[in-house]
Amino acid sequence: MDKMLNIALPKGRLGEKVYAMFETAGFECPSIREPGRKLIFENEAAGVRYFWVKPSDVAIYVERGAADIGVAGKDILLEYEPDVYELHDLGIGKCRMAVAAKKDFRDNRARTLRVATKFANIALKYYNSIGRDIDIIHLNGSIELAPILGLSDVIVDIVETGATLKENDLVVYEEIVPISARLIANKAAYRFKTDAVNELVQKIKNL
Ligand code: PRP
Repeated sequence: MDKMLNIALPKGRLGEKVYAMFETAGFECPSIREPGRKLIFENEAAGVRYFWVKPSDVAIYVERGAADIGVAGKDILLEYEPDVYELHDLGIGKCRMAVAAKKDFRDNRARTLRVATKFANIALKYYNSIGRDIDIIHLNGSIELAPILGLSDVIVDIVETGATLKENDLVVYEEIVPISARLIANKAAYRFKTDAVNELVQKIKNL
């Protein structure tokens, strides 16, 4: 069996922060900091192999066992509901999932609400929980345009600093759930590599 711990990191700014945490916790892999476009790095001595993965794909790699553990946003876990263990809240990558709309928006409950989002499942679950009929308009980015152009009444999206909303004259209408980066594990890998995974989680918790 592969003795190394295979770790999927979200490519980008969050991933850099996550790697820095892992490094400080004793799971360093110096080659990862070298410039270039390589996606796999390993340090046999530390027992770790890292992959740079598109953030929204981390949970797929972990669920299917291509990675033993990984770091994914709670938004992705809520949206895709992957069959993985959620081991720890890393307390970074903090933002919130919110409903936003134009300042003058008033909800008319007599009409179906048009909701533009990348997070259809989160939006459906939320509106279902409050008994509101909606029509999902699934977009892949620049969600903020939808209410401005009249494509939707509201959006369900991630708000971090609020700058994107502000610069597009939108406001938070309702908050749905706080989001942060979570350490997740493949269920079978957690059984076979329990000690290694628990040691890593403990060291990260002790930072
Ligand atoms: C997210 C989100 C908003 C923005 C919010 O997009 O969709 O557009 O960040 O951040 P703010 O409140 O700090 O302005 P992201 O940059 O993750 O990329 P995306 O457009 O691919 O969704």
